[in-house]
Amino acid sequence: MDRILVTGGAGFIGSNFVHHLVATTDTRVTVLDKLTYAASRESLAALPPERVELVVGDICDAPLVDRLVGEHDAVVHYAAESHNDNSLADPTPFVQTNLVGTFTILEAVRRHGTRLHHISTDEVYGDLELDDSERFTEATAYNPSSPYSATKAGSDHLVRAWVRSFGVQATLSNCSNNYGPWQHIEKFIPRQITNVIDGIRPRLYGSGENVRDWIHADDHSSAVWTILTKGEIGQTYLVGADGEKNNLEVVQLILTQMGRPADAFDHVTDRAGHDLRYAIDSTKLRTELGWRPTYGDFESGLERTIAWYREHEDWWRPHKDAVEAKYAAQGQ
Ligand code: NAD
Ligand code: DAU
Repeated sequence: MDRILVTGGAGFIGSNFVHHLVATTDTRVTVLDKLTYAASRESLAALPPERVELVVGDICDAPLVDRLVGEHDAVVHYAAESHNDNSLADPTPFVQTNLVGTFTILEAVRRHGTRLHHISTDEVYGDLELDDSERFTEATAYNPSSPYSATKAGSDHLVRAWVRSFGVQATLSNCSNNYGPWQHIEKFIPRQITNVIDGIRPRLYGSGENVRDWIHADDHSSAVWTILTKGEIGQTYLVGADGEKNNLEVVQLILTQMGRPADAFDHVTDRAGHDLRYAIDSTKLRTELGWRPTYGDFESGLERTIAWYREHEDWWRPHKDAVEAKYAAQGQ
């Protein structure tokens, strides 16, 4: 694979993947990104221009997508509207980008016979009880809760239908919650880190008992590269690093790692339809393709992430007031 097209490559996980490609392969990368509020050119700025080109454009723009897909050996499709709270406020861009955008890419890879890897989320499976001994597997039935997860579920169904009906050469992966550098400060972990830096008490939705299964974004990137290069066409692989923690534990860890009392947070209005627990069983990816996460220890990964946000205040500072004003208007 000499040339890879990465959609959404100026966002959090997509940009981590582009860094991963530059560091570990010889591939040339084209990023197709609309540069929504969630994107940042800065996340790609340190990368060599002879290896990485940014094309600003929309994945729903069929002629543009067709031309770019025709010029590349593979497409890794990250572009999406990604934040559950935003999908509750206005689902419109979620339907457009996550469904129509994925459809547009599928039609282009179908015409050109190009390899596709589709990035999805564990949220398509709905949620688990706190005491459920089962975790999500590739066989778990789809049961999405939010407009965001419903559109991601729909995009997965489109990909599978294009594989079966048209022979599109695609694989899929559904990953758990990512953390690491370049994550937008609307999301849970960077929001609380930047709150503590600003002397604002972290905000916990509801009781804080909700569990998320954390994985470092770089481990997600190595999993995607493994699937792209070794995965079986038509197959889905769940990606996770056994990182289950409830939100209360995460907020307390952030506070103590940042030198504050562990109880210096506030409970705020819960998210509507808030999924209780996600947990991934990634046995298939580990046994069939030999993938392993390298950030085994969430606590040290979190410490590095806190240090990164302290060192990159210039990046997030211009957005902080607007993000907090939006949450305050929602009672969060
Ligand atoms: P993000 O919101 O940080 O980045 C999304 C990127 O997509 C942005 O750069 C944005 O500009 C771009 N984009 C949005 N609409 C576009 C359009 N119409 N055309 C072109 N570009 C567009 O999201 P993220 O957290 O990096 O998530 C990336 C992907 O990974 C998504 O598909 C998401 O569903 C999936 N995912 C995320 C997580 C997580 O924990 N964040 C976990 C599992 C899967
Ligand atoms: O599971 C994968 C998903 O993880 C991805 O598909 C999504 O794109 C990604 O945004 C993430 O979704 P979540 O809704 O789990 O992430 P978020 O960071 O919004 O919230 C994590 C948990 O923290 C969730 O239980 C809600 C809670 N929360 C969030 C915020 C922003 C709070 O308690 N306080 C907050 O301020």
